Amino acid sequence: MKILSGIQPTGRFHWGNYFGAIRQYIDLQDNEQAFYFIADYHALTTVREPETLRGYVRDAALDLLALGLDPAKATLFRQSDVPEVTELTWLLMTLTQMHLLEKCHAYKDKKAKGLAADAGLFTYPVLMAADILLYDSDVVPVGLDQVQHIEVTRDIAARFNNMYGVEALKLPDAKVVESAAKVPGIDGEKMSKSYNNTIELFETPKRTKKKVNSIKTDSKTVEEPKDPETCSVFTLYKLFATQEQQDALTERYRAGGMGYGEAKGALYEAAMEHFAEARERREKLEQDPSTVEDILRAGATKAREVGREVLDRCRAACGLTATF
Ligand code: ADP
Ligand code: TRP
Repeated sequence: MKILSGIQPTGRFHWGNYFGAIRQYIDLQDNEQAFYFIADYHALTTVREPETLRGYVRDAALDLLALGLDPAKATLFRQSDVPEVTELTWLLMTLTQMHLLEKCHAYKDKKAKGLAADAGLFTYPVLMAADILLYDSDVVPVGLDQVQHIEVTRDIAARFNNMYGVEALKLPDAKVVESAAKVPGIDGEKMSKSYNNTIELFETPKRTKKKVNSIKTDSKTVEEPKDPETCSVFTLYKLFATQEQQDALTERYRAGGMGYGEAKGALYEAAMEHFAEARERREKLEQDPSTVEDILRAGATKAREVGREVLDRCRAACGLTATF
């Protein structure tokens, strides 16, 4: 089975990205053929500073490798190192119906706010479809908010196959981890860069502590019993803790006599421990940028080989092969 996913380099990765997406990438690399890429073409729809974009791409690569993405098992590459994807995007664009894109949330949300959207944002899901279809992907691990885009991808692929009467494109499935489908941010809403409520994976311990301490809770006193089910601190703690640790903290919540400060302390400790090894690996990799660049280039070479075949299949299907 072929797994593929992409992640946008539009800021530093946070707990939501890890539990909603990155952790799945890493789990899947052991048993499946996996392709993962840093979606820098997509990031261009929002990041307009070349140096900033380069920095985010670099951080994304370092984060993914530090968190355990293993180039010996999975193919890691920069989206823009495989220009074939833009050609497939055009082929797909010629048959993508406007109404499919009009209902996609990134564009729809922007429009609802009365903001001007450019063609890049509007056609973003077609590039994403090309990302997926170019490698004959079977399964796409993503967070819940991306499921809509996988459905659009299936629609576009089916339309292409129908239109040309061939099975040129494989229809992929989304894979969502339900338990982490919506990681809350420090304000209790979905954790997201756009809401300014994130806890980044590799901020300094001091900043991490500060962020954890600022997680919004209700105003129950220390003595009062508390409900773990409605508390963001507990929801986040669950992501890091074993079942036993969760049960122990649940009991303390329900019994009363424990303040939220203490629960936040437990969350901070659990998170620091969880990412300790990754943090160390990241520091080492940061000293060795040429190795990281080599990994990305080797990944792109491999991705292009696969992509070329699929693209040629599609070119032939629509009549773009030699005429005479
Ligand atoms: P952000 O919302 O911070 O801009 P992205 O949209 O770039 O994050 O998301 C990258 C990946 O991480 C996607 O697969 C997305 O579904 C997942 N993801 C982001 N935030 C969360 C969250 N709070 N809970 C679960 N998954 C998330
Ligand atoms: N749109 C995705 C996001 O914002 C990133 C992405 C681009 C992607 N291309 C993809 C994810 C292909 C999965 C497959 O998270």
